[in-house]
Amino acid sequence: MVSLLDGVRLVPKFFDDNEQAALLATIRAIVKKAPLFVPRMPKTGKPMSVRMSNCGRLGWVTDKEGGYRYQKTHPTTGKPWPKIPEKLLTAWQQLADYSAPPEACLINYYSADAKMGMHQDRDENNFDAPIVSVSLGDDCLFRIGSDKKSGPTNSFRLESGDVILLEGPARMAFHGVDRIYPGTSTLLKSDGRINLTLRRVNMP
Ligand code: SIN
Ligand code: FE2
Repeated sequence: MVSLLDGVRLVPKFFDDNEQAALLATIRAIVKKAPLFVPRMPKTGKPMSVRMSNCGRLGWVTDKEGGYRYQKTHPTTGKPWPKIPEKLLTAWQQLADYSAPPEACLINYYSADAKMGMHQDRDENNFDAPIVSVSLGDDCLFRIGSDKKSGPTNSFRLESGDVILLEGPARMAFHGVDRIYPGTSTLLKSDGRINLTLRRVNMP
């Protein structure tokens, strides 16, 4: 385990190769039921470069009209989100120093040229629980700063199987993904990366 900044914890290869393959199989099954959708920026409707889905009681969605929010159903199928895989619930139990389970698991799919701009995770009613984030597939360059929009940032590579936690003083840290490094993992059938972000949305 590596502590990079106060409240940022990297657990390299928390999931070994076999666990990554098993986790990927469960995520594929989830995405069959809850297909990836195109998230759109509030107001402008501009599409983000990642494709998203969710599992859990609540899922994070965004579109032109409704903006950033959590909801109980998939935006296009209208069905409840599939359950969070047991492996992820166990990872949360082992890593997050928090009494209640996660309610939402955002699934971000990055193609080789996708990225994510710097942002805070702030659509939750609970900022006490950590953010627990799992990487699968190609490496990425992850960037993180403080809870101020401007100011110094640090960047480092996240690899398949790594878990990163944002907790305590880093819970509201601005973070983003600068780039994917295609061809750095053979886990997925083709280039790309999957990120699974576990969050507690409400107070227990
Ligand atoms: C996110 O902040 O929603 C995703 C971060 C990542 O892909 O590692
Ligand atoms: Fe985020």
